[in-house]
Amino acid sequence: MQNVQKYISENKDRYVSELMEMLRIPSISADPKYNGDCKKTADFVAASLKKAGCKTVKVFPTPGHPVVYGEHIIDKSKPTVLVYGHYDVQPPDPLELWESPPFEPVIKKTKIHPQGAIFARGSCDDKGQFYMHVKAFEAMVATKELPCNVKFMIEGEEEIGSKHLGDFCEANKKMLACDVILISDTSIISNKTPSICVGLRGLSYLEVEVTGANRDLHSGVYGGAVANPLQVLSEMIASMKDKNGKITIPGFYDDVEIVSKTERAAMNKAPFSLTAYQKDLGIRDTRGEKGYTVIEQTSIRPTLEVNGMWGGYIGEGAKTVLPSKAFAKISMRLVPNQKSDKMTKLFTKHFQSIAPKSVTVKVRPHHGGEAAVTPTNTPEYKAAAMAMKATFGKEAIPVRSGGSIPIVALFEKVLKVKTVLMGFGLDSDVIHSPNEHYGLFNYYKGIETIPHFFANYAALRK
Ligand code: BES
Ligand code: MN
Ligand code: MN
Repeated sequence: MQNVQKYISENKDRYVSELMEMLRIPSISADPKYNGDCKKTADFVAASLKKAGCKTVKVFPTPGHPVVYGEHIIDKSKPTVLVYGHYDVQPPDPLELWESPPFEPVIKKTKIHPQGAIFARGSCDDKGQFYMHVKAFEAMVATKELPCNVKFMIEGEEEIGSKHLGDFCEANKKMLACDVILISDTSIISNKTPSICVGLRGLSYLEVEVTGANRDLHSGVYGGAVANPLQVLSEMIASMKDKNGKITIPGFYDDVEIVSKTERAAMNKAPFSLTAYQKDLGIRDTRGEKGYTVIEQTSIRPTLEVNGMWGGYIGEGAKTVLPSKAFAKISMRLVPNQKSDKMTKLFTKHFQSIAPKSVTVKVRPHHGGEAAVTPTNTPEYKAAAMAMKATFGKEAIPVRSGGSIPIVALFEKVLKVKTVLMGFGLDSDVIHSPNEHYGLFNYYKGIETIPHFFANYAALRK
């Protein structure tokens, strides 16, 4: 272990400059304009794996963005770890809120990151985090201290729902066979309080369209008589949550996993200050489901959120118009046992049923994914917990997260393999938002911790 750690510390600066090179490529999976850049990033990842010493590397085309696959088998009798990550990133909008351009990475110090943090889209989610694995792998290979077989699967469609990855896994089951999946794409509580993610929410993402009249109208000539789709849509959306923050879609809570009192008490022991939370977000109060703490509201409880809403005139100045159409993008975050497809159907049926006769509505499902919980009594969890203990000097706390990584449930279904979610980001790194960043402390800590995981896992699996 000493040699690996020495190698890492001797190559620290190069590790950062290589990551920054990858961060310059705008691999925005949602926007077809960037298809070429997604391919370029896939090639960059493949080249990095090769340079790191990975024996077999391949870029697999898919109907969408390519999957990068790497394989390094040292000994068939040793356990195999499959590292998953994603090289695609969220669109950087709104651009004007970035202090430096999203694809021109810079290192700046912040209060939380006194050692400096890399500011760029994807720095934390997930380029910076999966690249830690490439670099830890490089160090283990270079020092001949790699104790397991390693497979890498780095995809380019996570941020758009991993549309083609299910088929890819089905078609390549044999190639992907492994003992455990290791992912760094989640957060820790703080740089002083390590944690391991043990749960992810599922997701159903839809777009709705409400149409009133067959064309835009003069809001004076027709206003007062004809339904305004923006008004109707607002009312429909507003009616979907009651005053206690409960979602009113019939059947919405039917399948929700009931978490025991003991488990709820345990999760609420994680360090959390409501005052600090509110202060950080610039809010005077939260507005979640009554009867649950913020920790619970954002992990074991489902929710429905409007992600965007538009229609009518939103340009400069005023234009008097009664719009023909209104739109919204809506997501439901789901918890174990709630099936994404079923929830999409429930939403659609309800949305159609509450639409007044004065409008017509359309619902378009985007993507979905199932929730996942990972057990803590497995060799892989222990290997991760021991690894973090070694590098942070503190016991890691198991925490369920509110975000989604749909592939985790799919891996379990298709490959029948469990995942460990050993991420190193901070919630304050503002992934998906302007000025996303990733602490150098976190980047290095991840690279240092990963070889411990491999060593522990190999030992525990013996
Ligand atoms: N890495 C995130 C998920 C995440 C973030 C999990 C923080 C835990 C803590 C991932 O890239 C992501 O953003 N997933 C999407 C889902 C996807 C289907 C668009 C999400 O959660 O919105
Ligand atoms: Mn991610
Ligand atoms: Mn993301």
